[in-house]
Amino acid sequence: MSQRVGTKARTIREDAERLGIDLDRLPRHIAIIMDGNGRWAQRRGLGRLLGHREGYRALRSVLLHVAELGVPYLTVYAFSAENWRRPTEEVSGLMKLIERAARDELDVMHRNNVRVRFIGRMDGLPHGLRDAILQGVETTRGNTGVTFTLAINYGGRAEIVDAVRSIVASGVPPEAIDEETIRRHLYQPDLPDPDLMIRTAGEMRWSNFLIWQSAYCELYVTDVAWPDFSKDELLEAIHTFQHRVRKFGGVPEA
Ligand code: FPP
Repeated sequence: MSQRVGTKARTIREDAERLGIDLDRLPRHIAIIMDGNGRWAQRRGLGRLLGHREGYRALRSVLLHVAELGVPYLTVYAFSAENWRRPTEEVSGLMKLIERAARDELDVMHRNNVRVRFIGRMDGLPHGLRDAILQGVETTRGNTGVTFTLAINYGGRAEIVDAVRSIVASGVPPEAIDEETIRRHLYQPDLPDPDLMIRTAGEMRWSNFLIWQSAYCELYVTDVAWPDFSKDELLEAIHTFQHRVRKFGGVPEA
C-alpha cells in the first residue's frame, strides 16, 4: 500500500456504484482462500515462490481496496495447518515472505488505520514470524478501520479442537455448553462470521478454512489465480454476493 486510503476512496466506491453495487449492503466480513499461486508461476515457467511473491502483491492491493470500500473485516488464508506438507524450501520461503511482508507493511497498515489480527496456532511458527505478527497486532490494536485477520498455521478443525480444550479447561458443565459457548472460545471470538468467502483458482471446496464460522456464508469461486485477482474481480464477487438470496435456514424475506 503506497497511498493513504482517503486519497482513493471515491474512485473504487464510484466504480462499485457504476457496477450496480449497493454500498449500504456490502458484506461485513470477506474471507479469502488465496489459491493458485503455484499454478500461476508454473504456467510462466517460474518457481512456485515467485507465484507467492506475486500473491503478496495481489493481497496488498486487495487489502487497500477493501479498506477503501469500507468493508469492516477481511480474513485471508495465508498458510494452512496442512501446508507444512509442502517441500521444505517452499515452506521456509513462504514463512520468510510472510514475515517480511508483516514487517514491511506495518507502517503503512498502521497509517491506514488497519487493525491486524491473527488466527492459528502461533506456537508452531518460526520465532521471527511470531515476533512480526505480535508486533503488528500490538501496534495496530487501537485502530478502527478494516480488521485484517491473517490465518497462519490455521486449520478449522484444529480451531474447534482448541476451543473444546479451552472449554473443558474452564470447567463449564456439559449441559451449559451451547453454540455461543463454542463461539466464545474460538481464536477471535468477536470476529463476525464471514458473509462472503472468495476462493480463487477454481477449486470448489472449503479446505478447512473457518469451518465453524462459514456455516451460512456465501461461497464465490473464480477460475482466476490469486496473483491475477484484481479490483474488478473483487467488485464482481461483491456484485454476485448482493444477488444471492440468503435464507439462514428460513424463507426469503418478502
Ligand atoms: C495457495 O496457492 C497459496 C498459499 C498456500 C499461500 C498464500 C500466500 C500468499 C498469498 C503470500 C503472501 C501472504 C501474506 C500474508 C503476505 P498454491 O501454492 O496452493 O497454488 P497452487 O494450488 O496453484 O499450487
